[in-house]
Amino acid sequence: MKIAVLGTGGVGKAFAKRLTELNHEIIVGTRDVAKTLEKEGEAGFKHFQSQNPNVKLATFADAAAFAEIIINVSKGENTVDVIKAAGATNLKEKILIDISNPLDFSNGMPPSLIPEYSNTNSLGEEIQRLCPDTKVVKTLNTMWNGLMINPTQLANGDHINYICGNDESAKKKVISLLNEFGWKNESILDLGDITSARATEATLPIWLRIYGAKKTGAFNFRIVS
Ligand SMILES: NC(=O)c1ccc[n+]([C@@H]2O[C@H](COP(=O)([O-])OP(=O)(O)OC[C@H]3O[C@@H](n4cnc5c(N)ncnc54)[C@H](OP(=O)(O)O)[C@@H]3O)[C@@H](O)[C@H]2O)c1
Repeated sequence: MKIAVLGTGGVGKAFAKRLTELNHEIIVGTRDVAKTLEKEGEAGFKHFQSQNPNVKLATFADAAAFAEIIINVSKGENTVDVIKAAGATNLKEKILIDISNPLDFSNGMPPSLIPEYSNTNSLGEEIQRLCPDTKVVKTLNTMWNGLMINPTQLANGDHINYICGNDESAKKKVISLLNEFGWKNESILDLGDITSARATEATLPIWLRIYGAKKTGAFNFRIVS
């Protein structure tokens, strides 16, 4: 499949690498291609591309235009700008998997939720409002990115991943992609429409406290009943 990964951070790189290994065609989106390639060193995209030559880099708009499925892994506080830059027309009738979290780091660690996008709102809903003709599916945002793309490395994959969104067929397609990463259907819990993003994004405050206590992101939650 042709997939755009909107975001050049650690999560974007992790998805781009794993998806190319799974034989998908990947373009990563960024604000300014030349500027993103200027960054030297191991954290830079140039270095990443030298190790992953099949991953292409383009503007957010060009990446979105190319893709059948778009994955949003941009910084939460700038996600609205990134989606606007990608362009509602380029995203029209497509599935957008949203993994962003509305975190405000301005007062240091741990970050808090951005009030504008929490409690009675969420980034998932905000994206759906910006792009009413796009099928927004929120998933994977409640865990460390290493587990998102490779869940079986922990507890045989027996830990929870939520999914929500307004379009049932889009959720089914996203679940197929999750299965490719190694997610078992019984580990994926459908919470309903996109308003459930309020709840999954609100998992972050407790996730961050556990991360602070355990000093590792390699953990997840499990539902026991
Ligand atoms: N780290 C995890 O394990 C984890 C787990 C769950 C969810 N998430 C979520 O995944 C997302 C990505 O996280 P990350 O750590 O990989 O990357 P990040 O540093 O949060 O975001 C990087 C991306 O945000 C874009 N960006 C930054 N400032 C911008 C601005 N002013 N205007 C437009 N775009 C801007 C960057 O664009 P350029 O490419 O142009 O620089 C880049 O593509 C976040 O929403 C995070 O909450 C992360």
